[in-house]
Amino acid sequence: MKTIAVLAGDGIGQEIVREALKVLSVLKLDLEMHEALVGGSAYDVHGHPLPASTLELAMKSDAVLFGAVGDWKYDKLDRPLRPEQAILGLRKNMGLFANFRPAICYPQLVGASSLKNELIAGLDILIIRELTGDIYFGQPRGQRVATDGHFPGAPEAFDTMRYSRPEIERIAHVAFQAAQKRSKRLTSVDKANVLETSQFWRDVVIQVSAQYPDVALDHMYVDNAAMQLVKEPKKFDVLVTGNLFGDILSDEAAMLTGSIGMLPSASLNANNQGLYEPSHGSAPDIAGQGIANPLATILSAAMMLKFSLQEPQAALLIEEAVSSVLQAGLRTGDIFSEGCTRVNTQEMGDAVAKALSGLVKSGV
Ligand code: IPM
Ligand code: MG
Repeated sequence: MKTIAVLAGDGIGQEIVREALKVLSVLKLDLEMHEALVGGSAYDVHGHPLPASTLELAMKSDAVLFGAVGDWKYDKLDRPLRPEQAILGLRKNMGLFANFRPAICYPQLVGASSLKNELIAGLDILIIRELTGDIYFGQPRGQRVATDGHFPGAPEAFDTMRYSRPEIERIAHVAFQAAQKRSKRLTSVDKANVLETSQFWRDVVIQVSAQYPDVALDHMYVDNAAMQLVKEPKKFDVLVTGNLFGDILSDEAAMLTGSIGMLPSASLNANNQGLYEPSHGSAPDIAGQGIANPLATILSAAMMLKFSLQEPQAALLIEEAVSSVLQAGLRTGDIFSEGCTRVNTQEMGDAVAKALSGLVKSGV
């Protein structure tokens, strides 16, 4: 029996996680689900976005299925109480240092991208983002209080970009091993022409590369990588980068595929315990309307089966069910194009569940 913490969160989180659970239930696996509040909805009830009970549940589960957190209405709270702190706290406390963000262009959705079809048809890249270090967590950080004691009048604010050798080594190993399973090419992205942290990153990655002579390593500055991603995205295969650059490049890569509503992600620690969440956010502007695309969350559940629950076959079935539903022309609003059938969140979840149940019955 495996246990899963289900943290749906805010905004569209509830709607999309519901559909992922529906799809998982078709597989009749021996899974125990425990739901808990996180983000703004936890703040509303417990006064904190990551209550101790939620963190404890997540830490003792085999995996966390996460929806999304955040809403503009919490923007005025002190930073430690904002919904985003919940996901940062889960990453840090669970040691989820390795973030996998695949950007795959489904053949049926080529037309949904803002780039020319030939640039993105067949696109399949993997961004590996370091997730628990860098300027996100470096100390010291803060605003110097102005002499009058007011933050808005502060003369200066600062964050610290910092990486330790073991932090770079472990993410480099993860990246080289991922590249070994794919095309054996790895691009490490940094800003070594300007930043000490980046030069150090580059040196450590080069040292680790000695253990992976079968993988061709190259290095790219982050500004160039941002440009190459829209110029010629298919020349990449696996990219590895730090927390901040990875945050930015993974949104860019996601959008190449047409919709960020399609892309799953996995964040793993050293024990393969993982948190699985769609790459998109809580989208408060469309929350409660039942129109969000649940596919990124459904595909995140598939990654969970593969990485943390040792059910790779079940994961493949979910991916196949999603493909067949797209092939049948079903589209939520974000990926809709002429000639397709527009469906809502629930109808999309139902369709994937039905396709999956067909695949399970036919014993594929
Ligand atoms: C992401 C998000 C988060 C991040 C926010 C919500 C803290 O943008 O997962 O990419 O910056 O890591
Ligand atoms: Mg982001």
